[in-house]
Amino acid sequence: MSKLGVIGGSGLYEIKGLVPKGAKKITTPFGKPSGEYLIGEMGGKEIIFLPRHGSHHNIPPHMINYRANIWGFKKLGVERILSISAVGGIEKGLEPGDIVILDQVIDMTRNRKSTFYDGKDGVVHIDFTEPYCRELRQTLLKAGKRVKVTVKDGGVYAAVEGPRLESAAEIKSFAVLGANVVGMTGMPEASLAREAEICYAGISVVANYAAGISKRKLTVAEVMKAMKDASGKIKLLLKETFALIPGQRKCVCREALKEAKI
Ligand code: HPA
Repeated sequence: MSKLGVIGGSGLYEIKGLVPKGAKKITTPFGKPSGEYLIGEMGGKEIIFLPRHGSHHNIPPHMINYRANIWGFKKLGVERILSISAVGGIEKGLEPGDIVILDQVIDMTRNRKSTFYDGKDGVVHIDFTEPYCRELRQTLLKAGKRVKVTVKDGGVYAAVEGPRLESAAEIKSFAVLGANVVGMTGMPEASLAREAEICYAGISVVANYAAGISKRKLTVAEVMKAMKDASGKIKLLLKETFALIPGQRKCVCREALKEAKI
C-alpha cells in the first residue's frame, strides 16, 4: 500500500481525526527536517504528517530545510504528498477561507537550496511544465465534490522569499504576471518533490487579501484565524482524498528522472 504524506502549513500543526501510530526522527544528507514525522492512519491509509514550520511554529519560511523535509518523506517510502499552505488572495473574488487546488507556480524565491542535484550525482533538469501531480489534483477535486467542500480548480501560486509580506505594487505586478495567490513556502517544495519522483499537490487556503487589495493592514492574527476556521473543511477534504487515492500511480511524476539526467 502506497504511503501518503501531508505537509501542514501555518495554523495546521496536526490533522484532526488522524489515528496516531508513532513518530519517526529522520536524518538526511541535507540536514534536519522541520521535526519528527508523525505516522498515523486515516481513511484506511497510512499517513505521514510533517508541519513545515515545526510543531510550535518556530521555523520561518526562508529557514525551512525543504530538501531535508522532502528527503525524509522519500526515505519513509512516501509516494504522494498533499501540501497545505496559507496564501494571500490576489485574484478578484478570492475570499479568506477559500480553498484553491493549485495548478501552476511562479517561483520568485532567491536564497533557497532548490535541488538535490548539485553536480555530484550528475546534472539533472526535471520537467516542470505541470508542477502539480495531475492525478492527485483530480482526486482532490473529486473528493471536494463528494464531501461538498467547495474548492477552486486551478490557481497560479507566486512563491516569494518572505518573511516580510509584500508591497501593494509587488502584488499588482504579480497579478499582471498571472498569479492568483501568493505564499512563502510553495517553492522549492514542489520541485524537490518532483526531483524525488514524489507526486505533489498544493492545497492553498486563502488566509487574507494580499497587500493593497484590502486597505487594512495585514496581520498574522487574521492569517491564523482563517487557517483555524478552515481546518474542518481541510479535514473533510483530506479524509475523502485519502480514501479515493488509487493504489498504483499512473502519472508522470513517478518517473520524473527518466530522460532528465545528462
Ligand atoms: N503573502 C505571502 N504569504 C502569505 C500571505 C500573503 O499575503 N498570506 C499567507 N501567507
